[in-house]
Amino acid sequence: MTNKEKSAELVSKYVHIFSCPLCNSPMIFANLKSLVCSNNHTFDFAKQGYVNMMTRSTNSHYDKKIFEARNRIIMESGLYILLHEKISEVIDENMNASNDKIMILDAGCGEGSHLQRILDECKNEIIAGIGLDISKEGIRMAARNYKKSIWLVGDLANSPLQDQSCHIILNILSPANYKEFQRISVPNGLIIKVVPRSNYLKELREARFDEKDKTSYKNDETVSLFKQHFHLMDTFEISYTRGLNEKDLTNLTQMSPLSWNMSKDDMEQIINRGISRITIDLDILVGINKSNKTNERPN
Ligand SMILES: C[S@@+](CC[C@H](N)C(=O)[O-])C[C@H]1O[C@@H](n2cnc3c(N)ncnc32)[C@H](O)[C@@H]1O
Ligand SMILES: [Zn+2]
Repeated sequence: MTNKEKSAELVSKYVHIFSCPLCNSPMIFANLKSLVCSNNHTFDFAKQGYVNMMTRSTNSHYDKKIFEARNRIIMESGLYILLHEKISEVIDENMNASNDKIMILDAGCGEGSHLQRILDECKNEIIAGIGLDISKEGIRMAARNYKKSIWLVGDLANSPLQDQSCHIILNILSPANYKEFQRISVPNGLIIKVVPRSNYLKELREARFDEKDKTSYKNDETVSLFKQHFHLMDTFEISYTRGLNEKDLTNLTQMSPLSWNMSKDDMEQIINRGISRITIDLDILVGINKSNKTNERPN
């Protein structure tokens, strides 16, 4: 079976959770190659096995190089293992045994490695993963590398999913749209958001700005906004400093939004400084969707 056929088969199993991003109607799986709504809006499978459900063109800073670097860091360096373990523990603990299927959406999944690692950690066979990202480059890579999940190019602020279709929503280091998350989450569904704390990758920032980063990041506002939409059940702090080899340092420098405005020389300078340790400092916010909103798209 080709990638395209494999993912078409997977999507056909879950076709009831899709909703047309143009007109909100339900969708069917047609001719073994497309998702089609009752108004005939048609979204075809790409040969890599993802579906592009974007309804407008976008420009993303995230290019192939950034996603390749993120992929190597997440899958090879082991830098985020504790994050994956904690998230899958939370998922396993909150699994409702009466469900015959648990849908997990990773909203803003990038190149898909976090979702893949978390699904690998979760011991449960009834979980089905969906990765959604606005970047075609990221989703293309995800679909090529990981066959377990459904991969969609789409906007998390207008997701191609039905009301109350997701049991768990992951949102890792990505923008959010909480009204939309409320719409697509089942009542009492889990929202797991990962946000940086002030020391996240601080060694990189210090090297970049040549001094202590004075505008150190605080996540209070993010946490407060999250709490306005969801009942905050738990917060887990994932904080540690770890040794870094040269290869990891190169990938870290390339994977971060800090690299967007950096010239090649700047980047090489940072690498040549030989940062030998790096700090991971993240909060995992675990919220419960207490709202009962349906049919209310946010925009
Ligand atoms: C810092 S990256 C994080 C990616 C991934 N979660 C990770 O940690 O590797 C932020 C991601 O959010 C995605 N993104 C930004 N706006 C989005 C939107 N409106 N809908 C879907 N994805 C979006 C970007 O394309 C990018 O992949
Ligand atoms: Zn439609």
